[in-house]
Amino acid sequence: MAKNGKKNTTAKSKNVATGETHSALLELFTDEIKDIYWAEKHLTKALPKMKKAANSPELQDAFATHLEQTKGHVERLEQVFELLDKKPQAKKCDAMEGLVKEGEGIIEDTDDGTATRDVGLILAAQKVEHYEIAT
Ligand SMILES: [Fe+2]
Ligand SMILES: [Fe+2]
Repeated sequence: MAKNGKKNTTAKSKNVATGETHSALLELFTDEIKDIYWAEKHLTKALPKMKKAANSPELQDAFATHLEQTKGHVERLEQVFELLDKKPQAKKCDAMEGLVKEGEGIIEDTDDGTATRDVGLILAAQKVEHYEIAT
């Protein structure tokens, strides 16, 4: 890409050092924010279903608490967009879509009223959290 002189990523990286806002790194950062924004919003729809599917009251409470925290994460990301002087924009996150589908699969594959259902839900929720943490 650098050979034609049009897409010189080295020059773009230099902009980071000079404090200019248009850089490949800023673009990557913004893209990742859009990705996790989609993911967190998607979770606000998935968590109530997980709560409903859970059997133990403690696990139901944990999902309810986490739903409120997730709404807070959505708001915090909107603040990040504001700091970037950009409108909040979600970009579909294939990974989170897949993780939520896995959770739905666990609900389908386990019987209501069983501890196995709850174990599966915890497992699915932990996978989601690890994706969030990594991002
Ligand atoms: Fe979150
Ligand atoms: Fe979370």
